[in-house]
Amino acid sequence: MLIDSHAHLQDEAFAEDLEQVLQRAEQAGLEKIICIGYDYESSCEAVKLARKHPQIYAVVGVHPHDAKTLNNDILAGLYDLAREPRVLAVGEIGLDFYRNLSPQEMQERAFIEQIKLAQELYKPIVIHDRDAHQEVLNIIKKEKAGRSGGIMHCYSGHLPLAIDLMKQGFYLSFAGPLTYKNAKKTVEVAAKIPLERILIETDCPYLSPEPLRGKRNEPSNVSYIASKLAELRNKDPQEIAYLTGLNARRAFHIND
Ligand code: NI
Repeated sequence: MLIDSHAHLQDEAFAEDLEQVLQRAEQAGLEKIICIGYDYESSCEAVKLARKHPQIYAVVGVHPHDAKTLNNDILAGLYDLAREPRVLAVGEIGLDFYRNLSPQEMQERAFIEQIKLAQELYKPIVIHDRDAHQEVLNIIKKEKAGRSGGIMHCYSGHLPLAIDLMKQGFYLSFAGPLTYKNAKKTVEVAAKIPLERILIETDCPYLSPEPLRGKRNEPSNVSYIASKLAELRNKDPQEIAYLTGLNARRAFHIND
């Protein structure tokens, strides 16, 4: 019962062969794929996919890169999308102070507004955090963002931050970088935090795991993350699939 907790199936990288990609996912034992929006259009596309395919769920939101596009109309549009039962959460939202494609103040405002939206609907949030660990944690604490639950996507921080995030009610999700040779810090966190707080994801079409680095990523490859985690936790990959699948159900309030 593998669940890919973070995929961008609406990306144009899948325009030609989505059906085959979904078939391979099924063959690899994936039970569900959570398709994440990053702006208004991609959120609408995620919802369309979720309506069409029973194994796909959607998450809607505006990524920090696009924070400058978030206005009241788009916020209202997101609200309408987020009310649908097959929309599990609001995301990916957060801060990216590495690329700074939107001004930092706008990123913070968009992050806070979307946290409030999620809380109104009692849905969890999916967070993107790059080079803004402390600022993200401050906002989470101030807004009590963990009240409706949340997932830290593609976790890359250190152990003390992971503990702070778990105290705020968050789950941590690991992606392809867990399999990279230079991922010592990420490996340490994945090896040490309680297994009950761990999700796995591909972030496809990006971040292909070893040994597929550089190729287009796809949901079936989440099994590589499960295998790496199994090795770190000295467990069977099937048990990891089962446990992280249960965690994803709990984190996203999935009950079907
Ligand atoms: Ni993503």
